[in-house]
Amino acid sequence: MRSACRSLFFLAVAVTLAGSVQAQETASTTEEKPYHVAEDGTVSWPVFSGFRRYNSVCHTCHGPDGVGSTFAPALVDSMKRLSYEQYMDVVVNGRKNVNTAVQRTMPSFGLDPNVMCYIDDIYAYLKARSDGVVPRGRPAKKEDKPAEWAEAEAACMGL
Ligand code: HEC
Repeated sequence: MRSACRSLFFLAVAVTLAGSVQAQETASTTEEKPYHVAEDGTVSWPVFSGFRRYNSVCHTCHGPDGVGSTFAPALVDSMKRLSYEQYMDVVVNGRKNVNTAVQRTMPSFGLDPNVMCYIDDIYAYLKARSDGVVPRGRPAKKEDKPAEWAEAEAACMGL
């Protein structure tokens, strides 16, 4: 649910900005980041949650901390060019890249609550990694879990 709302929000922003090049340029610098990292390195809760989820599901193929492997791309690089919608599409629906030279398959996670309930958190973590503001490894300091985040998690996971 959180993701759907967010997509609508992004769509609304995109529509509002369409037609004005100047506005689009401003958007790339003022676009709201999906994460927050304090000067002392304390990461916002979603980044920490995303770190945990990424490193329990995605790291087997995409490597620890998003650095890639021989058979799946480094997401720290991918996230520099993928939009939120493109990221969502690949994770929800999966993607096959199979021809005579390569055989690579990104599984579909659309029915996996352990991914779908945290898909915005994983996005926040990967964006922070690709923007270079979160180093490799487990974030040393994190903000407390916000009550509204805990409520959304419980609703999504059906707890
Ligand atoms: C079984 C291995 C595997 C797992 C697990 C996996 N992926 Fe992938 N993923 C791939 C492969 C292989 C590709 C490249 C597919 C292609 O070449 O089209 C890919 C592509 C992607 C892309 C597009 C990258 C680009 O540069 O366009 C994203 C985003 C992505 N994966 C995110 C995730 C996330 C998030 C998770 C964990 C929830 C995850 N993946 C788990 C194998 C995996």
